[in-house]
Amino acid sequence: MLLEKERRDVVETCLFMQSNGLIVGTAGNVSIRVDDKIAISPSGVPYETMTAEDVVVFSMDGERVDGVLEPSSELPLHLSVYRETAAKAITHNHAPASTALGLVVDEIPPSHYYSAMLGGIIRVAPYAEFGTDELARNVTDALKGRSGALMKNHGAITIGPTVKKAAGLLPILEYVCEIHLRAMATGAPVALLSPEQMADAKAAIADYGRQPNKE
Ligand code: 13P
Repeated sequence: MLLEKERRDVVETCLFMQSNGLIVGTAGNVSIRVDDKIAISPSGVPYETMTAEDVVVFSMDGERVDGVLEPSSELPLHLSVYRETAAKAITHNHAPASTALGLVVDEIPPSHYYSAMLGGIIRVAPYAEFGTDELARNVTDALKGRSGALMKNHGAITIGPTVKKAAGLLPILEYVCEIHLRAMATGAPVALLSPEQMADAKAAIADYGRQPNKE
């Protein structure tokens, strides 16, 4: 099977999102890029029944290469992000705090330095209907220089050099959003980091978790 490992990894990542409460129903999608091809989750298939064969392979030109199911409706979004960034994997979800915070801000205020893990202040892409080229453009723009973005009235997206790294950012993004929402809910002023503090956090976090002989 073409891109067998990547197709298995797509299924595993969908299950990871599901078991961590990061999606609802079949919302969300996952893809992995290998050279000029991507393996992408099929549209609307329940994660618990999805197999590696169900994952479809498309060329970067949007042509089907392998697999028979309909690709994720967000295929245009995934292709657009791969064309404009160095990402090798994309994970998209509809986690509650990420989705809720995106309704009330146009960027995530820097209330937690973990935003630096996604490259700095995280933008909220303007709303456009799911599956459209307009949504693809809005989200691709919002991701400039970042590893994640929120999607207004929709959800969140993360990218990375591996699918593990992209998916690993989803709980972090959800955490940052949850913290900000809880702080806002008190009605008290929310303490924010300065641009300098955020820049310092970004520099410091680059090496975080790096240990000898560990990936
Ligand atoms: P798919 O099942 O087609 O990937 O759609 C889910 C989704 O999240 C659309 O944004």
